[in-house]
Order: sequence, then structure tokens, then C-alpha cells
Amino acid sequence: MPDKHTNDTGLRMAELLASLSLAIDLGVGQPMEWVLRSCLLAARLGESLGLSERDCQDAYYLALLRHVGCTSTSTTDAELMGDELGFAEAMTMDMDDMAQMMGLLFRNVAKDKSFFERARAIARFMTAGPAYMNASHAAHCDVASRVAETLRLSDGIQRGLWHVYERWDGKGTPNHIKGEEIALPVRVIHLAQDAATFYAMGGVEAAVSMARSRAGRYFDPAIVEAFCRAAPDLLQSLDVDSTWQTVLEAEPGAPARISDDEIDTAAAVVADFVDMKSPFTIGHSRAVADLAAAAAKQCGLPNADVVAVRRAGLIHDVGRVGVSNGVWNKPGPLTESEWERVRLHPYYTERIMNRSAALAPLGALAALHHERLDGSGYHRQVASAQLPPTARILAAADLTEPRPHRAACPPAAAADEVCRMMNAGKLDPDAVNAVLSAAGHRARPVRREWPGGLSEREVEVLRLIARGLSNRQMAAALVISEKTVSHHVQHIYDKLDVSTRAAATLFAMRNNLIFDLDSDSHLSA
Ligand SMILES: [Fe+2]
Ligand SMILES: [Fe+2]
Repeated sequence: MPDKHTNDTGLRMAELLASLSLAIDLGVGQPMEWVLRSCLLAARLGESLGLSERDCQDAYYLALLRHVGCTSTSTTDAELMGDELGFAEAMTMDMDDMAQMMGLLFRNVAKDKSFFERARAIARFMTAGPAYMNASHAAHCDVASRVAETLRLSDGIQRGLWHVYERWDGKGTPNHIKGEEIALPVRVIHLAQDAATFYAMGGVEAAVSMARSRAGRYFDPAIVEAFCRAAPDLLQSLDVDSTWQTVLEAEPGAPARISDDEIDTAAAVVADFVDMKSPFTIGHSRAVADLAAAAAKQCGLPNADVVAVRRAGLIHDVGRVGVSNGVWNKPGPLTESEWERVRLHPYYTERIMNRSAALAPLGALAALHHERLDGSGYHRQVASAQLPPTARILAAADLTEPRPHRAACPPAAAADEVCRMMNAGKLDPDAVNAVLSAAGHRARPVRREWPGGLSEREVEVLRLIARGLSNRQMAAALVISEKTVSHHVQHIYDKLDVSTRAAATLFAMRNNLIFDLDSDSHLSA
């Protein structure tokens, strides 16, 4: 558990993670509060099993956090499946049942494509599936445990996040551990998530029959037995007016709080969670936050506004997770219905943050980042009178920030576009001037030493990893052999103590390595 902090902002760790869990629901295509209900059942089940307070706390946080690494594979998921959000049912499906598996594939893989394309996609999935799932789960675990470490959650939680895809019979991933090797709180959340899902679909009977059929395969048989004995009471405790409030009240032990200083770290966790969704957005939210804060300072806004705009910048796009990467990464123009989905993302941001009294004001500001002075923006199309200076700055910063795919959007072109929109009466001139001036004066540090003991060449490789390039693509981009690329990648992994591309990408974002190499002159200066 994190320490209790003296500098109390009124934000509980549970509130932050519960808010993030609403984004996770969207990011994995589940109904809102799916994670919260799993967490609530885990807390009730842990209590009824007589678990220690420490194990109950770990189960509670593990239930909230177990899918926080899901965005790290969104792009490859979308490439393999078509719409990664359509695979929600796979998360609680019995993978041993081949008929169910085939049904899932036929219902979901490349569902908008022609018969032949679908057949090809399904064949590709069948071939690549097992190895892909293993790699994908390793990435989720690696990222999730690093998030827990950043938030200073317990060692038990950090270790447990490596067990969330394992199975009692050893047929899970990524390390194939089994039985009591799997941490006890994780064995509790395994059953709690599936039982809460089946209860929502078919009541107590469906949950109990699912639990019995998976005992000894997915689940610890002793936990299943205890669950089945108390199932009606446990499951009916989920039928409450406010799941949010009940989950917060169910936190075992003394609630941990987040200090004012730590809110930036917490908001950066949200930023990385959403930015990992696409190689085109890696580092975007951190860059917007820095730029908007610098511009707000330049405009002479009070410090409270500078802080608010920075934090709103970090969380502004969290609602993006609710829209498939098939839309975000689409090479051609979007259709009308795809635009409708895109226009929802600031609304999702607002709803995700709205439940927590401490985060709601940040969510409300963040939700204005696509609004325009002439009312032509989205999602509310509010008029200029309702757009405070902080919102105007955020909107201009969002359009100006550097993007990883520089070739597609060089800084000068972004600045031209921002000026064009200002001249058309869509963006505030003061905000635009402050943002462009802050962007122009932003000093990129001249680095003689790179974090993690990386060499300059390794940082270059790491940046390409973060942009989603394969080893072959990196070799072509750097004009070196694939073998040399593999050596670099292995050295990077060793130096950073990571085992997946996702964790390496997370390191690159946290250390501002995404954009630093964009101008080689900084390196040679
Ligand atoms: Fe956005
Ligand atoms: Fe954005």
C-alpha cells in the first residue's frame, strides 16, 4: 500500500484508479463499471474468505489495475482483429472451448471485410494467435507492474500484476506458473472478474455454473467452493444504486491519499495509458501539457491556472481509448460514422473524470480541447463566452504540439494550420501567440548523457521502437543490418531492465525521449 500522505488534496488513490478503470472499460470494449464491479466482488470475496487486510488491499488494487496495460497492444490488436474493442467477450471466455473460440473469431475478426479477406484474417489469427497472446499478455503485465511501481503501490501488487493472465492449471501466460505459485489475491480477482460478468449476463446460476466448470483449470478449486457456498449474497451485493460510491467505501484498510505534488505523476500515468494506444500519439499528452503550461505562464495566468492547464493537458485525450485504432490509425479520410465516433472522445474524457470530485474540474477543462471560438468544434460546440483562457490555450497547444510522425506533420505546417484557424476566428489570437512563442522558445536539452545509460544510437533505436517499427523496418530506417538492430534492442532491454517493447516505450515517454532526437543538431551541438 502507498504511504498515507500529509499533504491531502482530497484525492484518494482508489478514486484515481477507479476513474482510470472507467477508461479501461472503454479501452477493452466492456460496459462502464465492468472493472468496478469486478473490484467490488473481489473485495467482498476476499472478506468472506477471511484474507488478511494486506491481501484484501492487494486484491482490491489488482482488480482495478489488472488491465491498465491494455492500450500497449491496441495497434497490433487492431491489425490482427480489425476492431480491437469488439473482442471484449474474449476476456471472460473459456479458451479451452474450441467451438466458443471459433464462434468468437467468426463473429468479430475483420467483420466489415469481404468473405475472402475475413477468411485470410481468421487464418492469420489462428496461426499467430497463441504466440501473439503470449507476447501481448507479457506487454500488459510489464506495463501494469511499472504503473503500480510509479504509483508506489505495494510489492505484492507489482508482482501480482505479472500473474493476472496465469491459470491454476499452468496453461496461462506469460510464465505458465500454476496453483499456489499464483499470488492469492490474484486467484481471488480471477474468479471475481468472471463471476461478476456472468452474474450480469445470467444471474447467480450462470455465475456459479461458470465457476464450477472452470475450477481446477482457471480457478483455485478451494476459492470456487467457498464462493459457491456464499454466491447469492456475494453477487447480490453488486446490486447497488452507486457502484462508484460502494467501491470507494469497500476499500480495505485506511484509504491511501495522493498528495498535491503527486497529482502530476498520477495524471502522467493517465497520459501514458492513452498515448500508448497508437504509435501516432506516443508522447502527445505530455507534450501538450508542457506546451500549454508554458503558454499559460507566458500569458500571465495565475499559478493555479498554469497547474490546471498542465494537468488537463495530461488527461485531455483519455477518452480516445473508447474509439478503435481501426479509426485512429486509418490511412485515408474518415467516413461520417467514423467522425461521429471521433467526436465522442472529449465527451468520454469528461465522463471518465466526472465521478471524482477532485478530478472533475480537470475533466471539464480537458473536455473543451476541441471546441472552437466560432462554435464549430466538438463535442458541445460551445460558444466563445464559455471558453476560459485555459481552454483556449489547451486547444491551441493540442494543435501545435510535436507529433512522433514528423514527416506527416512538420512543426512549421502545424504552426501554419494553427494560424489559419486563428485567422478564421476559430482559435484565440492571444492563446495562439503564447503557444507558438512557447513552442519556438522551448529549449530541448543538449544531452551529453542519456537516461538508463543508453548510448545515442540506442536512444535512436528506442525512439523507433516507440513508434511501432519492426526490427526489419528499423534496419531499413537506420541503414544497418537486422542483426545489428537486434543487438541494440537486446542491449536496450538489458540496460532498462525491461522485457517488452511496451515497457521500453513507456520508458521513452517518461524520459522525454520521443521528440529529443528530432533535431540531430541538438546532438552535435
Ligand atoms: Fe483530442
Ligand atoms: Fe490531443
